[in-house]
Amino acid sequence: MRHFLTLLDITPDEARHILKRAKKIKSKLKEGKAHRPLEGKTLAMIFEKASTRTRVSFETGMFQMGGHALFLHSSTTQLGRGEPIEDSARVLSGMVDGVMIRTFAHETLQCFADHASVPVINGLTDGNHPCQILTDVFTYEELRGSIEDKTVAWVGDGNNMAHSWINGAVTFGYRLRIASPEGYGPDESIVMAARSLGADVSVTHDPLEAVANADLVTTDVWASMGQEDEQAIREKAFADFCVDSRVISYAKPDALFMHCLPAHRGEEVSADVIDGSQSVVWLEAENRLHAQKGLLEFLMS
Ligand code: CP
Ligand code: NVA
Repeated sequence: MRHFLTLLDITPDEARHILKRAKKIKSKLKEGKAHRPLEGKTLAMIFEKASTRTRVSFETGMFQMGGHALFLHSSTTQLGRGEPIEDSARVLSGMVDGVMIRTFAHETLQCFADHASVPVINGLTDGNHPCQILTDVFTYEELRGSIEDKTVAWVGDGNNMAHSWINGAVTFGYRLRIASPEGYGPDESIVMAARSLGADVSVTHDPLEAVANADLVTTDVWASMGQEDEQAIREKAFADFCVDSRVISYAKPDALFMHCLPAHRGEEVSADVIDGSQSVVWLEAENRLHAQKGLLEFLMS
């Protein structure tokens, strides 16, 4: 029984296996062939935050693989009324075959996983968003081949997405250049841990330095879910961190642009970049379905 709370919960070989299976599962779907390894299995999906892509991709993925997904929002379950996480984990483990959780503190997810006897998947916490990086690497490789030794530039907040990109540098062997405003960089302990595992991760305050010669440029919102009241102060701090046509022109001419979405055009990315020829955000969003089916098969079948 395995959990997927961060990318470091799986080995590089396992990550490679999942992406290989995802590719196969995607092509089967496109050919109209059924792939139902999760017949009779149920995934509970706990959401304490909003979601479009994560919910739809997990729910659709479970259905396509012959299983079933349950949407549980904290506002309509006993979790939202204070039932202990530990108790909820034990109860759900008795009825379902896997649990996906989107919550605030990473510790909540960890606590749930510690008391669950079925696989637990991180559907985003304040700390990490590993399913998205699995997908983004899948998408890069679908379009450009191996991401190993390529340069990924992260421009913006040192948030959950940035942390998972850092862990992904360990798993997938790309170089990672992060540019964040002073005071908004990634968690130093996550950077140090990745470096100690051999990852090439650098952190700067200069977006152009990070983007120079990059193969992939990516960003995310300035204020994540739960930080809505910091929006105004963050808009000031991040004013020089918009990925616009000037910034992306410092990357390689064939560099791709990714964004996990939802995006704020005119803030972290200009409309001409996200809607432009280097952007692959719609394929990236679709690939949540395929990459996570590879993950679900690995964890639950
Ligand atoms: N990228 C992503 O996780 O999107 P949702 O918030 O819509 O699930
Ligand atoms: N950093 C964003 C990602 C959304 C998918 C957030 O946590 O709101």
